[in-house]
Amino acid sequence: MDLLQKNIVLCAEAIKRGALVCFPTETVYGLGADATNAEAVVKIYETKERPKINPLIAHYAELSEVEKDVIVNDNFLKLSKAFWPAPISFVLKKSENCRICDVATAGLNTIAVRIPRSEIARNLIKNAGVPIVAPSANPSGLLSPVSFEQAKKMLGKKVKYFLDGGECEVGVESTILDLTIETPTILRFGGITIDQIERIIGEVNIATKEENSPKAPGMLLRHYRPKCGLRLSQNNPIENEALLWFGTETPPAGFAIKKNLSSKGDINEAAKNLFNFLHQFEELGVSRISAILVPEVGVGIAINDKLRRAAE
Ligand code: TXA
Ligand code: MG
Repeated sequence: MDLLQKNIVLCAEAIKRGALVCFPTETVYGLGADATNAEAVVKIYETKERPKINPLIAHYAELSEVEKDVIVNDNFLKLSKAFWPAPISFVLKKSENCRICDVATAGLNTIAVRIPRSEIARNLIKNAGVPIVAPSANPSGLLSPVSFEQAKKMLGKKVKYFLDGGECEVGVESTILDLTIETPTILRFGGITIDQIERIIGEVNIATKEENSPKAPGMLLRHYRPKCGLRLSQNNPIENEALLWFGTETPPAGFAIKKNLSSKGDINEAAKNLFNFLHQFEELGVSRISAILVPEVGVGIAINDKLRRAAE
């Protein structure tokens, strides 16, 4: 057995004992616990200082395991077949014998489920033998970590077990699609795009802020906000301000540091770089970040949604 596999087995044992494990997924690093163990799940909320009203996503390695915990429907069967393993989570009604503890779902009768594309993540879940609930591995309200080093820096003092999977392939969180209502509704933009979803099941809705309040409480909180603040204008840069740019055009002058999310205009590369660059700016101690919005195509919709929230 190689070292990584040994660590995966060790971390799976830790999950079974009720400990928390930071592990990579293709989107962002997660802070995982045995989804069936309420005492373990409470530790996630305490460690992140996450409001208890904000439910978690349950991660699985196999569809047959998901089907034990949710009530499936046609759209779910089509979409899971088309995408999983992938950066998309589906909200479904809990089954009668749902194994996921109530703390994890914040007492709701629905649950968000996902099979991640990351092989390390699926390997961990298989070895643990239970679904793993995992929010992003950051203190509540801060940027999501997209590398082992960032996760370690954010939670290293509080969490004992970390799995190193290098940098995350996608770089933004999973798309969340509510399948419990008549018209499937996007609760969070992410790694799988609306176009991709609509190609499989036809037109979907996008939740308004008001609709979101009971549905995805997490979306109400001020997420993704770099500590130094972020604005969507390039006028009158202040001292030590950083510029987050995109594409082939020449960026405006007057900024202390500039980073281009993708100088060749590749939207997927931009998603992968987004949190990395924001983390780097924070580390450099810039006074403020000025960002431009990227084209509203593909994962660009998720990037812009995050930038707009960060600027609020
Ligand atoms: O990519 C991801 O989804 C990452 C990785 C680790 O898998 N996880 C992640 O988890 O982003 P978190 O906790 O940061 O975001 C989960 C979101 C929250 O906004 C929460 O409100 C929503 O999912 N959510 C969870 N269960 C829900 C439910 N039953 N109904 C509506 N929204 C739900
Ligand atoms: Mg999060």
